Amino acid sequence: MDQERWTEVDRYIAERVLPADSALEAALAASDAAGLPAIQVSPSMGKLLQLLAQSIGARRILEIGTLGGYSTIWLARAVAPSGRVVTLELNSAFAEVARSNLGRAGLGERVEVLVGPALETLPLLAAEASEPFDLIFIDADKESTAEYFRWALNLSRRGSLIVVDNVVREGTLIDDDRRDAHIQGIRDFYALAAAEPRVSMTAIQTVGIKGYDGFAVALVSAEAQTSSC
Ligand code: SAH
Ligand code: DHB
Ligand code: MG
Repeated sequence: MDQERWTEVDRYIAERVLPADSALEAALAASDAAGLPAIQVSPSMGKLLQLLAQSIGARRILEIGTLGGYSTIWLARAVAPSGRVVTLELNSAFAEVARSNLGRAGLGERVEVLVGPALETLPLLAAEASEPFDLIFIDADKESTAEYFRWALNLSRRGSLIVVDNVVREGTLIDDDRRDAHIQGIRDFYALAAAEPRVSMTAIQTVGIKGYDGFAVALVSAEAQTSSC
Protein backbone atom coordinates (compact mmCIF):
# COMPACT_ATOMS: atom_id res chain seq x y z
CA MET A 1 0.00 0.00 0.00
CA ASP A 2 1.53 3.27 -1.01
CA GLN A 3 0.86 6.88 -1.82
CA GLU A 4 0.51 6.26 -5.56
CA ARG A 5 -2.26 3.75 -4.94
CA TRP A 6 -4.08 6.02 -2.46
CA THR A 7 -3.93 8.86 -4.99
CA GLU A 8 -5.29 6.65 -7.80
CA VAL A 9 -8.18 5.48 -5.64
CA ASP A 10 -9.01 9.07 -4.69
CA ARG A 11 -9.07 9.83 -8.43
CA TYR A 12 -11.33 6.83 -9.07
CA ILE A 13 -13.78 8.07 -6.47
CA ALA A 14 -13.63 11.68 -7.66
CA GLU A 15 -14.26 10.70 -11.28
CA ARG A 16 -17.45 8.95 -10.26
CA VAL A 17 -19.01 11.10 -7.55
CA LEU A 18 -17.31 14.51 -7.69
CA PRO A 19 -18.14 16.09 -11.05
CA ALA A 20 -15.76 18.69 -12.49
CA ASP A 21 -16.47 21.98 -10.78
CA SER A 22 -15.21 25.18 -12.36
CA ALA A 23 -15.47 27.32 -9.19
CA LEU A 24 -13.44 24.89 -7.11
CA GLU A 25 -10.89 24.41 -9.89
CA ALA A 26 -10.55 28.18 -10.36
CA ALA A 27 -10.07 28.60 -6.60
CA LEU A 28 -7.24 26.07 -6.59
CA ALA A 29 -5.62 27.65 -9.66
CA ALA A 30 -5.79 31.15 -8.17
CA SER A 31 -4.45 29.92 -4.82
CA ASP A 32 -1.57 28.19 -6.57
CA ALA A 33 -0.82 31.28 -8.69
CA ALA A 34 -0.74 33.39 -5.52
CA GLY A 35 1.78 31.00 -3.96
CA LEU A 36 -0.47 29.53 -1.27
CA PRO A 37 0.57 26.08 -0.01
CA ALA A 38 -1.62 23.29 -1.44
CA ILE A 39 -2.74 21.98 1.95
CA GLN A 40 -6.49 22.33 1.46
CA VAL A 41 -8.79 19.41 2.21
CA SER A 42 -9.10 16.77 -0.50
CA PRO A 43 -12.13 16.96 -2.81
CA SER A 44 -13.68 13.95 -1.03
CA MET A 45 -13.20 15.61 2.35
CA GLY A 46 -14.64 18.88 1.03
CA LYS A 47 -17.70 16.99 -0.14
CA LEU A 48 -17.98 15.26 3.25
CA LEU A 49 -17.97 18.67 4.96
CA GLN A 50 -20.76 19.79 2.66
CA LEU A 51 -22.79 16.62 3.26
CA LEU A 52 -22.39 16.85 7.04
CA ALA A 53 -23.49 20.48 6.99
CA GLN A 54 -26.47 19.72 4.73
CA SER A 55 -27.54 16.72 6.76
CA ILE A 56 -27.89 18.79 9.94
CA GLY A 57 -29.49 21.69 8.05
CA ALA A 58 -26.67 24.00 9.09
CA ARG A 59 -27.42 27.71 8.77
CA ARG A 60 -24.41 29.07 10.63
CA ILE A 61 -20.93 27.63 10.12
CA LEU A 62 -17.60 28.63 11.64
CA GLU A 63 -14.28 27.66 10.06
CA ILE A 64 -10.91 28.17 11.72
CA GLY A 65 -8.19 28.24 9.01
CA THR A 66 -9.35 29.61 5.63
CA LEU A 67 -6.26 29.40 3.38
CA GLY A 68 -7.64 30.18 -0.14
CA GLY A 69 -11.21 29.31 0.79
CA TYR A 70 -11.38 25.88 -0.84
CA SER A 71 -13.05 24.14 2.12
CA THR A 72 -15.01 27.36 2.69
CA ILE A 73 -16.63 27.00 -0.75
CA TRP A 74 -17.80 23.46 0.09
CA LEU A 75 -19.18 24.64 3.44
CA ALA A 76 -20.81 27.79 2.05
CA ARG A 77 -22.63 25.77 -0.60
CA ALA A 78 -24.27 23.78 2.18
CA VAL A 79 -25.96 26.79 3.77
CA ALA A 80 -28.92 28.59 2.20
CA PRO A 81 -28.30 32.07 0.75
CA SER A 82 -29.63 33.42 4.06
CA GLY A 83 -27.09 31.28 5.96
CA ARG A 84 -23.70 32.47 7.16
CA VAL A 85 -20.15 31.15 7.15
CA VAL A 86 -17.56 32.92 9.28
CA THR A 87 -14.00 31.85 8.50
CA LEU A 88 -10.87 32.89 10.41
CA GLU A 89 -7.48 33.38 8.78
CA LEU A 90 -4.19 34.66 10.19
CA ASN A 91 -2.61 35.67 6.88
CA SER A 92 -4.23 38.74 5.26
CA ALA A 93 -2.84 37.89 1.80
CA PHE A 94 -4.40 34.40 2.02
CA ALA A 95 -7.66 35.99 3.18
CA GLU A 96 -7.70 38.25 0.09
CA VAL A 97 -7.22 35.23 -2.18
CA ALA A 98 -10.07 33.50 -0.33
CA ARG A 99 -12.41 36.48 -0.71
CA SER A 100 -11.70 36.60 -4.41
CA ASN A 101 -12.25 32.84 -4.78
CA LEU A 102 -15.51 33.00 -2.83
CA GLY A 103 -16.70 35.96 -4.90
CA ARG A 104 -15.96 34.09 -8.12
CA ALA A 105 -17.90 31.12 -6.77
CA GLY A 106 -20.89 33.40 -6.15
CA LEU A 107 -20.66 32.89 -2.38
CA GLY A 108 -19.16 36.20 -1.25
CA GLU A 109 -22.42 37.45 0.27
CA ARG A 110 -22.78 34.62 2.73
CA VAL A 111 -19.16 34.36 3.88
CA GLU A 112 -17.24 36.64 6.22
CA VAL A 113 -13.44 36.21 6.28
CA LEU A 114 -12.01 37.57 9.53
CA VAL A 115 -8.27 38.28 9.53
CA GLY A 116 -6.06 37.79 12.58
CA PRO A 117 -4.85 35.10 14.95
CA ALA A 118 -7.92 32.96 15.66
CA LEU A 119 -7.25 33.10 19.39
CA GLU A 120 -7.87 36.86 19.08
CA THR A 121 -10.88 36.74 16.75
CA LEU A 122 -12.68 33.91 18.61
CA PRO A 123 -13.18 36.00 21.79
CA LEU A 124 -14.63 38.78 19.60
CA LEU A 125 -17.11 36.30 18.09
CA ALA A 126 -18.05 35.07 21.56
CA ALA A 127 -18.56 38.66 22.76
CA GLU A 128 -20.98 39.32 19.88
CA ALA A 129 -23.40 36.92 21.61
CA SER A 130 -25.01 36.02 18.30
CA GLU A 131 -26.60 32.64 17.67
CA PRO A 132 -24.44 29.56 18.17
CA PHE A 133 -22.83 27.86 15.19
CA ASP A 134 -24.37 24.64 13.87
CA LEU A 135 -21.08 23.31 12.52
CA ILE A 136 -17.50 24.29 13.30
CA PHE A 137 -14.55 23.13 11.19
CA ILE A 138 -11.14 23.38 12.91
CA ASP A 139 -8.26 23.40 10.41
CA ALA A 140 -5.67 26.03 11.38
CA ASP A 141 -2.32 25.75 13.22
CA LYS A 142 -2.27 22.32 14.84
CA GLU A 143 -0.56 23.39 18.07
CA SER A 144 -3.68 25.34 19.04
CA THR A 145 -6.19 22.63 18.14
CA ALA A 146 -7.18 21.97 21.77
CA GLU A 147 -7.76 25.66 22.42
CA TYR A 148 -9.82 25.94 19.23
CA PHE A 149 -11.89 22.97 20.35
CA ARG A 150 -12.59 24.71 23.67
CA TRP A 151 -13.76 27.81 21.80
CA ALA A 152 -15.81 25.69 19.42
CA LEU A 153 -17.68 24.24 22.39
CA ASN A 154 -18.24 27.72 23.68
CA LEU A 155 -19.73 28.87 20.38
CA SER A 156 -21.97 25.82 19.84
CA ARG A 157 -25.24 24.35 21.15
CA ARG A 158 -26.65 20.91 21.75
CA GLY A 159 -26.68 19.22 18.31
CA SER A 160 -23.79 21.21 16.82
CA LEU A 161 -21.07 19.27 15.02
CA ILE A 162 -17.38 20.01 15.45
CA VAL A 163 -15.10 18.60 12.74
CA VAL A 164 -11.34 18.66 13.28
CA ASP A 165 -8.85 18.08 10.46
CA ASN A 166 -5.37 16.52 10.70
CA VAL A 167 -5.79 14.54 13.90
CA VAL A 168 -3.58 11.57 12.89
CA ARG A 169 -0.56 13.06 11.06
CA GLU A 170 0.89 9.78 9.79
CA GLY A 171 0.29 8.25 13.20
CA THR A 172 3.00 10.39 14.79
CA LEU A 173 0.69 11.13 17.69
CA ILE A 174 1.56 7.73 19.21
CA ASP A 175 5.35 8.21 18.87
CA ASP A 176 6.56 9.09 22.36
CA ASP A 177 9.78 10.62 21.03
CA ARG A 178 7.83 13.20 19.01
CA ARG A 179 7.34 16.24 21.21
CA ASP A 180 6.74 18.77 18.38
CA ALA A 181 4.20 21.44 19.29
CA HIS A 182 1.92 20.53 16.38
CA ILE A 183 1.77 16.87 17.44
CA GLN A 184 1.41 17.75 21.11
CA GLY A 185 -1.47 20.07 20.16
CA ILE A 186 -3.36 17.13 18.67
CA ARG A 187 -2.68 15.00 21.77
CA ASP A 188 -3.97 17.83 23.97
CA PHE A 189 -7.08 17.93 21.81
CA TYR A 190 -7.78 14.20 22.36
CA ALA A 191 -7.18 14.60 26.10
CA LEU A 192 -9.60 17.51 26.24
CA ALA A 193 -12.27 15.70 24.21
CA ALA A 194 -11.90 12.58 26.34
CA ALA A 195 -12.49 14.56 29.51
CA GLU A 196 -15.34 16.65 28.10
CA PRO A 197 -18.78 15.36 29.12
CA ARG A 198 -20.55 17.63 26.62
CA VAL A 199 -19.24 15.84 23.52
CA SER A 200 -19.53 12.45 21.91
CA MET A 201 -16.65 12.01 19.47
CA THR A 202 -14.92 9.68 17.08
CA ALA A 203 -11.86 10.00 14.85
CA ILE A 204 -11.27 8.31 11.51
CA GLN A 205 -7.88 7.57 9.96
CA THR A 206 -7.68 8.39 6.27
CA VAL A 207 -5.41 7.72 3.30
CA GLY A 208 -5.70 9.50 -0.03
CA ILE A 209 -4.16 12.26 -2.09
CA LYS A 210 -3.07 13.98 1.12
CA GLY A 211 -1.27 10.92 2.48
CA TYR A 212 -2.06 9.31 5.82
CA ASP A 213 -3.98 11.48 8.24
CA GLY A 214 -7.43 11.62 9.81
CA PHE A 215 -10.27 13.74 11.05
CA ALA A 216 -12.49 13.85 14.12
CA VAL A 217 -16.22 14.45 14.36
CA ALA A 218 -17.71 15.52 17.67
CA LEU A 219 -21.39 15.94 18.45
CA VAL A 220 -22.15 18.46 21.15
CA SER A 221 -24.61 16.56 23.30
CA ALA A 222 -25.33 19.10 26.01
CA GLU A 223 -25.78 22.84 26.06
CA ALA A 224 -22.39 24.55 26.03
CA GLN A 225 -21.79 27.32 28.51
CA THR A 226 -21.77 30.91 27.32
CA SER A 227 -18.94 32.18 29.48
CA SER A 228 -15.61 33.04 27.84
CA CYS A 229 -12.84 30.46 27.65
N1 SAH B 1 -9.35 24.94 5.58
C1 SAH B 1 -8.47 25.19 4.44
C2 SAH B 1 -7.03 24.86 4.77
C3 SAH B 1 -6.48 25.63 5.93
S1 SAH B 1 -4.71 25.47 6.03
C4 SAH B 1 -8.94 24.30 3.28
O1 SAH B 1 -9.10 23.10 3.51
O2 SAH B 1 -9.11 24.80 2.16
C5 SAH B 1 -4.43 26.24 7.57
C6 SAH B 1 -4.65 27.74 7.56
O3 SAH B 1 -4.62 28.19 8.90
C7 SAH B 1 -3.55 28.52 6.82
O4 SAH B 1 -4.11 29.35 5.85
C8 SAH B 1 -2.89 29.35 7.92
O5 SAH B 1 -2.46 30.62 7.49
C9 SAH B 1 -4.02 29.47 8.93
N2 SAH B 1 -3.55 29.75 10.28
C10 SAH B 1 -2.38 29.39 10.86
N3 SAH B 1 -2.32 29.86 12.11
C11 SAH B 1 -3.47 30.54 12.33
C12 SAH B 1 -3.98 31.28 13.43
N4 SAH B 1 -3.30 31.40 14.56
N5 SAH B 1 -5.18 31.86 13.30
C13 SAH B 1 -5.90 31.73 12.15
N6 SAH B 1 -5.46 31.05 11.08
C14 SAH B 1 -4.28 30.47 11.17
C1 DHB C 1 -0.97 20.32 6.25
C2 DHB C 1 -2.17 19.70 5.95
C3 DHB C 1 -3.34 20.23 6.39
O1 DHB C 1 -4.55 19.65 6.11
C4 DHB C 1 -3.35 21.39 7.13
O2 DHB C 1 -4.54 21.87 7.55
C5 DHB C 1 -2.17 22.02 7.46
C6 DHB C 1 -0.98 21.48 7.01
C7 DHB C 1 0.29 19.73 5.77
O3 DHB C 1 0.21 18.72 5.10
O4 DHB C 1 1.33 20.31 6.06
MG1 MG D 1 -6.13 20.52 7.22
